[in-house]
Amino acid sequence: MDGKPSGRLHAAVLGAMDCEIGRVMGALSGAETLREGSWELVTGDIGRVRVTAVRCGIGTANAAACAALALREAKPDLLIIQGTAGAHSPELRRGDLVLAERLVNIGAYMSDPHPEGSGVRTSLWKPFETELMLAEPRSVYELCSSDELLAAARGTAEVLREEGRLSGRVIRGTVGSGDVWNREIARIAELRRAYGTDCEDMESYSAAQVCASFGVPFLCVRVISNSELTGEEYERETASAAQDFTLALLGRLGRS
Ligand code: 5AD
Repeated sequence: MDGKPSGRLHAAVLGAMDCEIGRVMGALSGAETLREGSWELVTGDIGRVRVTAVRCGIGTANAAACAALALREAKPDLLIIQGTAGAHSPELRRGDLVLAERLVNIGAYMSDPHPEGSGVRTSLWKPFETELMLAEPRSVYELCSSDELLAAARGTAEVLREEGRLSGRVIRGTVGSGDVWNREIARIAELRRAYGTDCEDMESYSAAQVCASFGVPFLCVRVISNSELTGEEYERETASAAQDFTLALLGRLGRS
């Protein structure tokens, strides 16, 4: 990534909960904190990269508000959102990483009209588009991480694997986000069919949407922390794997 005229790359990194961003914040050298409303933007260095880390809070509105704030205040060259997710793919196990090639909004859907008494058929609900606020607003069903950042993330995974610092799988996949936590296997299967999801979280899509509107390159990295499909319960400690990966990626971006 080219970065600013100064030549120094500036990355914003978001995580919803303390357990999802604390490690990144702790790794910043010379950290300074700017308080903006209820958010704390902590800026420091990771090697040659300037990093602004923020605990955005759980859910789509928090992630969108925080992403907008981080982009306006820190003016970063890129934004990474990372944290935990629940598996929709039966292939994924706790500790596996998903690099989001695609992001979809699983909280956005429209039903066909059905008369009273005909029940609720979630399997018939269709994805609803998101309006991207650009100079000419555009309706989209999906967003993407930046190709360049995805390539850097794949390179990071290869290096970590060679160094024996990565044990789980790393896939390029689709992350679905909404203010929802689905635990019904049938509903998870419906979502996977309708939206093509590999996992779900509550923030990534809305942060990606804000980045797309601001024209800022975006990357989403999620670690699987729970899977109804394998019976693996939520484990918050898995959040450190996404942060360690992000720290390694930032180090690599600083060298390129
Ligand atoms: N469904 C939704 N969100 C999940 N998270 C982890 N697993 C899931 C899941 N199965 C993440 C969300 C949110 C926090 C509660 O954990 O992104 O920030």
